[in-house]
Amino acid sequence: MSKENRDTLEVYEKLFQEYFNGTKRRIKNRGAEKTAIKAKFEHSFWFEGFKTLGNHADILEIGSADGLGAKALAEYGFNVTASDTVGGFIDELEKKGLNPIKYNVLIDHLDRQFDGVLAWHVFVHFTPNDLKIALKNIHSILRPEGCLIFDVQTRGEKSGEISEWVDYDGDYHLGAKRFFQYYSESAVRKIINDTDFKIIKFERHNSDSGIGWLRFVVSSES
Ligand SMILES: C[S@@+](CC[C@H](N)C(=O)[O-])C[C@H]1O[C@@H](n2cnc3c(N)ncnc32)[C@H](O)[C@@H]1O
Repeated sequence: MSKENRDTLEVYEKLFQEYFNGTKRRIKNRGAEKTAIKAKFEHSFWFEGFKTLGNHADILEIGSADGLGAKALAEYGFNVTASDTVGGFIDELEKKGLNPIKYNVLIDHLDRQFDGVLAWHVFVHFTPNDLKIALKNIHSILRPEGCLIFDVQTRGEKSGEISEWVDYDGDYHLGAKRFFQYYSESAVRKIINDTDFKIIKFERHNSDSGIGWLRFVVSSES
């Protein structure tokens, strides 16, 4: 586990309430209708990706934070396990009745197996070496023919792997800098190729805030 990820988790430990406030601000500023459209777009990528696993598949969400993703997956019918490693997030997930587990994908060992894993907006805080460790650990908790859905941020193909410590302005403002890693598509493909995962779906997406995202569905069947 990198120092970058550890220090970022300390920021979340202190400022989780600000993170929740940011989510509320974002929903308010974007408006209910636009928020619903954006959520539907993201959720359809997950539902489509997990479709082959069947409606009642066991899905682990890593880095659930305020639980919006876990809730959507549960409403769809999946048997969802929410998780996070930050105390304030675990408390919130418990309050929402999501029965979370405390799980740090870079250091914890899980004695359970899942059909699917979702890590959405989580690897933004992972160095390339963290990402390699996370993929290896996730592979070990997936059943054969299981799948992982994840995204990473990008600054374009030429940028390669660059990073910064930043506290974004506006709705994403937290009050302290977090570590953000940006990947090129080829850099992520190379990391995946060195694992036992196989890419089954890929999408590039530019959000309205100008941030680019690379979205992957990968299968544990090599
Ligand atoms: C930007 S938030 C995204 C939250 C949520 N998944 C979403 O889509 O809005 C990043 C999340 O990743 C979690 N996270 C960061 N490093 C982690 C690690 N090593 N293991 C598990 N979760 C981690 C944080 O605690 C936080 O909940």
